[in-house]
Amino acid sequence: MAKKLWGGRFSKSTASLMDEFNASIDFDQKLYKYDIQGSIAHANMLAKQGIISQEDAQAIVTCLREIRKDIDDGNIQFSIEYEDIHMNIESILTERIGEAGKRLHTARSRNDQVAVDIRLYLKEEIDTITDLLHKLEETLVSLAQAHTQTVMPGYTHLQRAQPVTLAFYLMAYYQMFRRDIQRFEDCYKRTDCLPLGCGALAGTTYDTDREYLADQLHFSRLCENAMDAVSDRDFALEFLSDCSIAMMHLSRFCEELVVWSSAEFSFVSMDDAYSTGSSIMPQKKNPDIAELIRGKTGRTYGNMITLFTIMKSLTLAYNKDMQEDKPPIFDSAETLKASLSIFTNMLETLTVNKDKMEAAAKKGFTNATDAADYLVSKGLPFRECHEIIGKVVLFCETHGIAIEDLSLEDLQSFSPVFEEDVYEKIDIRNCIAAKKSYGSTSFESVEKMISDAKKELAGGVCL
Ligand code: ARG
Repeated sequence: MAKKLWGGRFSKSTASLMDEFNASIDFDQKLYKYDIQGSIAHANMLAKQGIISQEDAQAIVTCLREIRKDIDDGNIQFSIEYEDIHMNIESILTERIGEAGKRLHTARSRNDQVAVDIRLYLKEEIDTITDLLHKLEETLVSLAQAHTQTVMPGYTHLQRAQPVTLAFYLMAYYQMFRRDIQRFEDCYKRTDCLPLGCGALAGTTYDTDREYLADQLHFSRLCENAMDAVSDRDFALEFLSDCSIAMMHLSRFCEELVVWSSAEFSFVSMDDAYSTGSSIMPQKKNPDIAELIRGKTGRTYGNMITLFTIMKSLTLAYNKDMQEDKPPIFDSAETLKASLSIFTNMLETLTVNKDKMEAAAKKGFTNATDAADYLVSKGLPFRECHEIIGKVVLFCETHGIAIEDLSLEDLQSFSPVFEEDVYEKIDIRNCIAAKKSYGSTSFESVEKMISDAKKELAGGVCL
């Protein structure tokens, strides 16, 4: 039985069931790189401040680098008896260099250690995620560029509402992912705060240099209050919320792709590389990837609720409950990264059936609002126009025709103000072109959205 690093005040060893239950090494080994990075900075700081000797620091740093390489190469067997990644690494260190290894934990606690590890990990994950979101946005913009003239029905209640362009629709998602990037960048600011050097909860008696640690570990600020530093998981909650929101956006998009790839819609078809077949029905081509992303959104919500529930009612400062923060954090990060990568690939290889989209836009009276607006332009009050066009639609519906199929005489039987120019006004493309409000689906407005987006993406700026 390995001797516990904290075994001094114990007269009995722990039950093996306890070791298993207490250990987090199965999942927190993911943090080894950050743990070693933090320890190297800590050892250097201790030596700089004369708290440990330069030789000891040198031995610690050299050995930690070797351990890092051994873990990278898969040559280290972690042990649950050493509970977590922090104590596993420390025990290997001590095994290898003896006494000097035992000095590393001076002026530090696992409470500030784990807090800095998660922050280092999350800062890197946030960078990766924002890069992936950027790539997705680039794909959206180039797809939008290719579909500025592709007309489709815009929906409300999944009922055909008004004609829009596919580019406009895609640029709507661009805005959502833009906000996701902003949210992650914002979360980064609060994650970018160094807890190391705060000790267990109250600070330490040593003359440490936390500024130096921040500098070495690339943190822009120090956590201001030691007790808060070790108790705080707000940044992780923000991260999990941001992941949930981004997944929700992906999920809505996926839902649309699932619906659009059905035979009933046939607006798009997924590339074979991103579809699967059925084990029984030979004709099937299923949009599994889109469905899976939609499904995985659920687990990111679950992860967020998990951590909120863990943190609720925890007294200050550290409580072991907080060890449970890691599986949900890791899972959401992995889920979002994988979903963003595959979704982007799927989008790049999507085939759009423009004719089907345009044909659908022409059905369902998507130009009814424009017909009412036409009557407004002839001087009638909008409510009255709404009523008239409602009657026109009812008539057309019973006869299985579109508004533009009615003769001028027919139209005039509903209102004498109809004139020949109505047909031009309710032409589907003109309905789109005629939109004037800022941010509308008009061809001109969408061109502007695309060129603004290109500038944003090129500058890496978040407006
Ligand atoms: N494995 C622990 C965690 O992840 C490390 C911190 C333990 N601190 C303590 N005082 N027990 O939270």
